[in-house]
Amino acid sequence: MAVTWTIRRAERRDLPEILRIEETQFPEPWTRGMLIDEMSNVATRRYTVAVEEGVVIGYLGVMFVIDELHVNTLGTASAHEGRGVATALLTEAFADAEARQIVRATLEVAVSNTRAQRLYYRFGFAPVGVRPRYYERTGEDALVMWADLGAPAAGGPTLAP
Ligand SMILES: CC(C)(COP(=O)(O)OP(=O)(O)OC[C@H]1O[C@@H](n2cnc3c(N)ncnc32)[C@H](O)[C@@H]1OP(=O)(O)O)[C@@H](O)C(=O)NCCC(=O)NCCS
Repeated sequence: MAVTWTIRRAERRDLPEILRIEETQFPEPWTRGMLIDEMSNVATRRYTVAVEEGVVIGYLGVMFVIDELHVNTLGTASAHEGRGVATALLTEAFADAEARQIVRATLEVAVSNTRAQRLYYRFGFAPVGVRPRYYERTGEDALVMWADLGAPAAGGPTLAP
């Protein structure tokens, strides 16, 4: 399927569409207030959206901590999964991070979320530990993953096309 979306920085007007994806894709969705706080913190946060025909079909929020990047949230609208939207969002954010001299990236992902884990493996992330019962509502453990930016991924390139 053709890539017909563009990636740009998220704006306040994107909030309702981001929230709609967040609420359908996460068992513990962030609230509007949490997202506003996050997106307002432009010094340390970077939120981007993938937009197709004027509609937000995916979003990514990352946080910078000195020379590290934390993936805070990532979601693709369910009707658009499997098209490469999340891959494109991560690729764009990591290119920006390398330009900012960011050397490592980390994230937490539910242990059962193998789909997201596969995506992260392709970007060179590897599991380093578990945070027990990290997710309050489900009681599920989170896998903690780290990646060295710029280092080749095991079995594939760091940045998937
Ligand atoms: C995890 C998530 C963000 C992935 O988003 P996505 O946009 O579907 O991801 P991509 O399309 O880039 O890659 C996913 C799959 O599609 C495949 N794919 C990518 N581009 C494709 C294309 N053009 N045609 C067909 N398949 C494609 C990838 O190979 C990958 O396959 P795999 O799952 O078998 O490994 C999405 O499923 C989601 O929002 N899940 C719920 C929220 C969540 O788990 N977020 C992450 C929490 S840490």
